[in-house]
Amino acid sequence: MARFSSFIVLAIALVSSTTAFPAYQSLGGLSQRQIDSIMPGLKAVKPKDPPPPLKDNGTKLVNDAKHPWKPLRDGDKRGPCPGLNTLASHGWLPRDGVATPQQIIAASQEGFNFESQIARRFTYSSHLIDGNLVTDLLSIGAKTDKTGPDPPAPANPGGLNLHGAIEGDASMTRGDAYWGDNWHFNETQFSELLEFMDKYGDGLYNYKVAGEFRYQRIQESIATNPEFNFTGGRFFAAYIETVVGANLFSDGRRNDSQVPADAARGFFQDSRMPDDFHRAARPFSTEGVEVVIGAHPFSPGRNVNGINTYTIDPNSPTFESDPDGCAQYEMFVNEAVVPLYPNPTGVLRRNLKINLQHYFDTFGGKCKQLFPYGRDH
Ligand code: HEM
Ligand SMILES: *[C@@H]1O[C@H](CO)[C@@H](O)[C@H](O)[C@H]1NC(C)=O
Ligand SMILES: *[C@@H]1O[C@H](CO)[C@@H](O)[C@H](O)[C@H]1NC(C)=O
Ligand SMILES: *[C@@H]1O[C@H](CO)[C@@H](O)[C@H](O)[C@H]1NC(C)=O
Ligand SMILES: *[C@@H]1O[C@H](CO)[C@@H](O)[C@H](O)[C@H]1NC(C)=O
Repeated sequence: MARFSSFIVLAIALVSSTTAFPAYQSLGGLSQRQIDSIMPGLKAVKPKDPPPPLKDNGTKLVNDAKHPWKPLRDGDKRGPCPGLNTLASHGWLPRDGVATPQQIIAASQEGFNFESQIARRFTYSSHLIDGNLVTDLLSIGAKTDKTGPDPPAPANPGGLNLHGAIEGDASMTRGDAYWGDNWHFNETQFSELLEFMDKYGDGLYNYKVAGEFRYQRIQESIATNPEFNFTGGRFFAAYIETVVGANLFSDGRRNDSQVPADAARGFFQDSRMPDDFHRAARPFSTEGVEVVIGAHPFSPGRNVNGINTYTIDPNSPTFESDPDGCAQYEMFVNEAVVPLYPNPTGVLRRNLKINLQHYFDTFGGKCKQLFPYGRDH
């Protein structure tokens, strides 16, 4: 509560002071009056189309002379995604951690061989919630030279760190937002992951380890986080992220979606590729997710009344009920995006439509498109 009220006080102070509004910060949830006062300080940009899939899509050296790991500088931003953190610390993304969706998709493809459709889906959904849709910039997290986020601000102080439709509970190596830090590497959690690698993966991280550890982290959140929420998009992302780690943190010359423990620590903790790291042997999407969910079939839900009150939410989609993702798409547009932007105008409205179109394009034409802001753009 104390945190929340000081947040509001500082938020009001920021909007009414002359402090420049960060170009990468989300405008979601702001009033028209606030947006009107911020707009003159922002450079409006028309988003470019996403880059195409890789033509040359095999493995190659990506920890190369042009992309050396470098330590963080004051002000550099990192967040809950070890993949994007690593791309920034190797200069595949701007090292300060602020990028356009085009840069994030290109870097994920080039640097890791992330498959185009899923790279676009992750990126546009994140940008719609956490990015600045006027400047077309998204921060992958918050400043790293302090334990907390950037100075509290009206909407989203820390890019991808914002807890909600994108960042969620029961992450493998990051804590739940309920405890106040949902984005720093947590050594206690990683130590437990190492134990699971020894027990289930002969010292490697792989689908089998992911299946066991995913379930373990869920059980821990049920038992300790009174506000544990594992519904909506989080349910899917929590499973998918575990296999993205196996598929893309595995050296492409192995081509077996297994990751040695020291390499895993490098990515998760230090945003660092091993020396001589080669990206995956081909583009990877969600391969292996059926193994992870199959290890411990589980349903979306949340703790409805404190710890150990996990209750299945029958309205929240699952891999079985929503194979094409249309329910996720509708839920995301209607329940996450529109409430943040109930009545946008001008460039903001145009760019919302462009980004929503790019997001919709990742559903392969199988879903009915929604037009909350009209069809033209
Ligand atoms: C394409 C753009 C991407 C976006 C927008 C994105 C975003 C995110 C976000 C917001 C989270 C935090 C979710 C949470 O645990 O609450 C996350 C987690 C994760 N991401 Fe990414 N990601 C992207 C690409 C990648 C890539 C290329 C990799 C691997 C090379 C990757 C690997 C992971 C892993 C393993 C986690 C789980 C971390 C954990 O549970 O400790 N992501 N990502
Ligand atoms: C749980 O998360 C979903 C998806 O992000 C969100 O729509 C919902 O409001 C959250 N529920 C609670 C009780 O916080
Ligand atoms: C890391 O996670 C453990 C277990 O959930 C928790 O007790 C601890 O406070 C966390 N550490 C930090 C530094 O947040
Ligand atoms: C990678 O492994 C798969 C089987 O899992 C195989 O079909 C493919 O040819 C391999 N690719 C390379 C480049 O070795
Ligand atoms: C990789 O590139 C080859 C050759 O252009 C193409 O046939 C194949 O479909 C691509 N693989 C993926 C998964 O995109």
